[in-house]
Amino acid sequence: MREAEQLFKRHFGYTPAHDVRAPGRLELLGNHTDYNEGLVLSLAIDKYLGIASAPRTDGKIKIISSAFPGREIFWSSEFKKNPAAPWADHIKGALDQLRKRGVHFTGFNAAIHSTIPIGAGLGSSAALEVATALTVRALHPFSLGETGATPPPKRNARGELPPLTADEKIRFARLCHAAESQFVGVNCGLLDPISSLFGKAWHVMSIDCRFYSVETTPLLGEAIIVCESGVKRELVAGRYNELRRLCESAARALGAKSLRSVDAKFLAANRSRLNEREYQCAYHVVGEIQRVVAAERALREEDLRQLGQYLFQSHESSRDFLQNSCSELDLLVELARAHPGCHGARLTGGGFGGATINLVAYHQAGNFMEHMASQYEQRTGRKLAPVVCQIVDGAA
Ligand code: GLA
Repeated sequence: MREAEQLFKRHFGYTPAHDVRAPGRLELLGNHTDYNEGLVLSLAIDKYLGIASAPRTDGKIKIISSAFPGREIFWSSEFKKNPAAPWADHIKGALDQLRKRGVHFTGFNAAIHSTIPIGAGLGSSAALEVATALTVRALHPFSLGETGATPPPKRNARGELPPLTADEKIRFARLCHAAESQFVGVNCGLLDPISSLFGKAWHVMSIDCRFYSVETTPLLGEAIIVCESGVKRELVAGRYNELRRLCESAARALGAKSLRSVDAKFLAANRSRLNEREYQCAYHVVGEIQRVVAAERALREEDLRQLGQYLFQSHESSRDFLQNSCSELDLLVELARAHPGCHGARLTGGGFGGATINLVAYHQAGNFMEHMASQYEQRTGRKLAPVVCQIVDGAA
């Protein structure tokens, strides 16, 4: 039995009716490109957020989480933030968006358990939103059309709902994104929910954030290792939103719909139309989108050394131009680069703390992790527990 189910049973005293889970994600390449309509390479990883649930008849929603004390109780007709339980905002935001799309649901009990570290840049918020939307789908089946809820799909002989279609996954991702930007207040892109929904075991997703298409390419035989810096920055949302604002004002000043439409030559020729920070952010995003195109080719040709070089270059660009790194992340990348088994390393996710992703030759993974842990502790006094991640299927 999964942990969320066990937690449900312990807390509510009976067996839950449904159990869904959504994986975290790792951005392999493409830092802050998603909200610029750019390209990203991403993976769903074997860190999950699970929700076990069962319906109630009184219209109340009762939620407990293994990560936070107490429980959150509210009516299924009203979603208000509770400053004492900000973790529940992601759930309320998703429920609010479901309502806005005409999805019918009433009260339920739910228990949440997650192995995705919070605040490490591994997509824990999106996994919670995705799992919430799938929980409601399990409790009160519906389809999500362009304009909102439509009649539910037929269950199979075992009473199961069919998996979401690709179009529906995109609509679910948009819903989760709206929850995050409108309810929680982080003006992020669609990378995290798309990755959690579209994940494919052993494959890298290439996400095109202008056309919302996802393609997959196998990545076999190398270890993906996450190093969590242990730095959790406060006010990250404000700094993230500020980078987005700079990118958008840069695009506007260049007369472009988004930075996706700008190439390096055009940017250089029109530099005088931007202030220094706008230029730096645009320089990063334009270069990063090009790197993703090149990295995809390296991946298809199984040239992992070359792919790794793009990871290092990406980190340097984030650090110097976007300026969303910090000394601990820089140190992690520097230490990784010094190890012969490491193909590439970079900060992953929003930045300002969080984690690095490392592409390492499989047979050197153990040695790499020891090297990173001992060196990082020596240099910073902080403990480091590198984790090997498997690439897994998306939410279900
Ligand atoms: C966070 C956001 C994503 C994306 C990354 C940076 O993870 O949630 O939408 O912008 O940062 O690439």
